[in-house]
Amino acid sequence: MTPPLAPELVRATVHDPHAEARARFAAAVHAGLAKPHKRLPTEYLYDERGSALFDAICDLPEYYPTRTELAIMRAHVDAMAAALGPNATIIEYGSGSSIKTRLLLDALERPAAYVPVDISAEHLAAASARLAREYPELRIAPVAADFTRPFDVPVRGVGRRVVYFPGSTIGNFEPDAATALLRQMARLVGPGGSVLIGVDLRKSVDILEPAYDDAAGVTAEFNLNLLRRIARELGGDLDPSRFRHRAYFDAEHGRIVMTLVSRCTQLVHVAGRRYRFDEGEAVITEYSHKYTREGFAALAGAAGLRVAQVWTDPAEWFSVQHLVAG
Ligand code: AVJ
Repeated sequence: MTPPLAPELVRATVHDPHAEARARFAAAVHAGLAKPHKRLPTEYLYDERGSALFDAICDLPEYYPTRTELAIMRAHVDAMAAALGPNATIIEYGSGSSIKTRLLLDALERPAAYVPVDISAEHLAAASARLAREYPELRIAPVAADFTRPFDVPVRGVGRRVVYFPGSTIGNFEPDAATALLRQMARLVGPGGSVLIGVDLRKSVDILEPAYDDAAGVTAEFNLNLLRRIARELGGDLDPSRFRHRAYFDAEHGRIVMTLVSRCTQLVHVAGRRYRFDEGEAVITEYSHKYTREGFAALAGAAGLRVAQVWTDPAEWFSVQHLVAG
């Protein structure tokens, strides 16, 4: 007979998803803060409050991307649908709660299926249920996955596969990671498949910087919320009020850099470790790359995708691009 396990061993082997998620969060925070130029993991900006603040950002007068992309969709969605063709299987990176998704679905000729891919099973279920009510004829096959890692799509349609990736979220990724993500999209859609992607374009610093440092301070709140989340979920003595928001355009790399700047020299404990911040030291929380048309075409090319069409607004602030896998 096997002897009973000691209680602490039993506890250690019990599956606790919350503890696992917290451990992953702590590991990501530690990895970033241990770097010579400190970083914090961008994806953790989007907790419940962070997501609500991001929605508020989208309505700010300074934040042009959301409304510009929407205007491009409204103006050109029929041409986009024609380029994608009938019977397409639309694989959206994100849960598909946006009005842009509906514009596209309305314009497409007999879409075969709609596959939203989101890391949050909760958001996915809510958005899919809403969509199913609005599109009773459409086959909806949600996939709960982290789209930065390979995943399977459980649908085999007759038309082409199309990855839809709106919002210029590709801008969050550094060039190597962006290429890897695009390459994985190319593999997922297969030869002749498509990617329809929102890409923010290079423009004057006088437009770019206020979009990430608005007068009402919403973006600052959004950024500082990451510190609040760390303090709340990981414990320690991190005090968000000892940091301030700073966003600037890094012309060399063509990207907005969002940072949190330490207001003083301080020692901070986070999840059992201690970090020193110098006065004025910046912690990077997010990049938002701004592409030239040539720059993005080169990036897509490196991933095995050819730019077939580019739709823009009259000022060429933003673009929606149709990429075809070779
Ligand atoms: C969601 C990545 C497209 O980069 O413009 C907005 C995020 N951060 N304001 C962007 C963001 C601060 C946004 N993306």
